[in-house]
Amino acid sequence: MTKIQSALVIGASRGIGRAIAKALLEWPSLQCLCTTYRNADSAGELFDINDPRLHRFPAEVTDEDSLRQLAQSIQNRNVHPELVIHCAGILHEPGLQPEKSMRQCDPSSLRRLFDVNSIGPLLVAKAIIPLMPRRQPTHFAALSAMVGSIGDNRLGGWYGYRASKAALNQFMRTLAIECRRTHPGLCVTSIHPGTTDTALSQPFQGNVKPGKLYSPEQSAARIIEVVLNGKPEESGRFVNWDGASIPF
Ligand SMILES: NC(=O)c1ccc[n+]([C@@H]2O[C@H](COP(=O)([O-])OP(=O)(O)OC[C@H]3O[C@@H](n4cnc5c(N)ncnc54)[C@H](OP(=O)(O)O)[C@@H]3O)[C@@H](O)[C@H]2O)c1
Repeated sequence: MTKIQSALVIGASRGIGRAIAKALLEWPSLQCLCTTYRNADSAGELFDINDPRLHRFPAEVTDEDSLRQLAQSIQNRNVHPELVIHCAGILHEPGLQPEKSMRQCDPSSLRRLFDVNSIGPLLVAKAIIPLMPRRQPTHFAALSAMVGSIGDNRLGGWYGYRASKAALNQFMRTLAIECRRTHPGLCVTSIHPGTTDTALSQPFQGNVKPGKLYSPEQSAARIIEVVLNGKPEESGRFVNWDGASIPF
């Protein structure tokens, strides 16, 4: 059983992030869970908002002021998260769909994917890692995607999403190298959650092989286990939900 006492989940309003937050609240050792939401409407659903261990904050990952306020709120509560899991990300949204061909590549959609999926997690790291304990074992993980692997790209398509996750992996790797000095106990992980039944994957689930679509609860349990198994000497890794390395 892990001894982690305080954790932060970015993007816990729904999908995998919400399942991770709910799983963490089951830990008897957990004394403090900070979660973030973007839309106040979806913020409290399915959480026991009277749980004294739970602190919920608004955060927009493309807005550095919002992330500075988040860090300040966490610091004001004297919380030093030992585990941070960044779950916020997009594949589609109104007016933005994954591209099948270069003809569909649109500069503003490409920028939007990079803003949310690549730069967002780096800005979260910039705001939050200074609050994390420096010497003890700690974990900063970002949900990446297998399709972000350049080495594994055999099918093509999804230009912006693929590239934004490849950039995320590079940011996390670079962060890991910097943090070797400042946070020698930290393991930074980019992890592919597996295809999970959420709003993000919903329009594309027709292509998933039978038995390969996982519930958010299944994915959450596996992500937590793999992330917590990471050692500081492995920091910067890109792994699958079963812990296997994925080529960058
Ligand atoms: N589901 C899969 O099969 C799958 C596969 C591979 C990788 N992933 C990755 O796993 C992560 C989670 O995906 P999911 O399936 O759980 O998606 P989801 O159900 O659509 O949830 C996405 C979460 O990200 C938050 N979010 C999006 N943009 C944000 C922003 N600009 N600022 C703050 N929060 C933002 C959403 O908040 P709101 O509720 O406020 O919109 C929501 O909490 C993503 O990075 C995705 O790329 C998922």
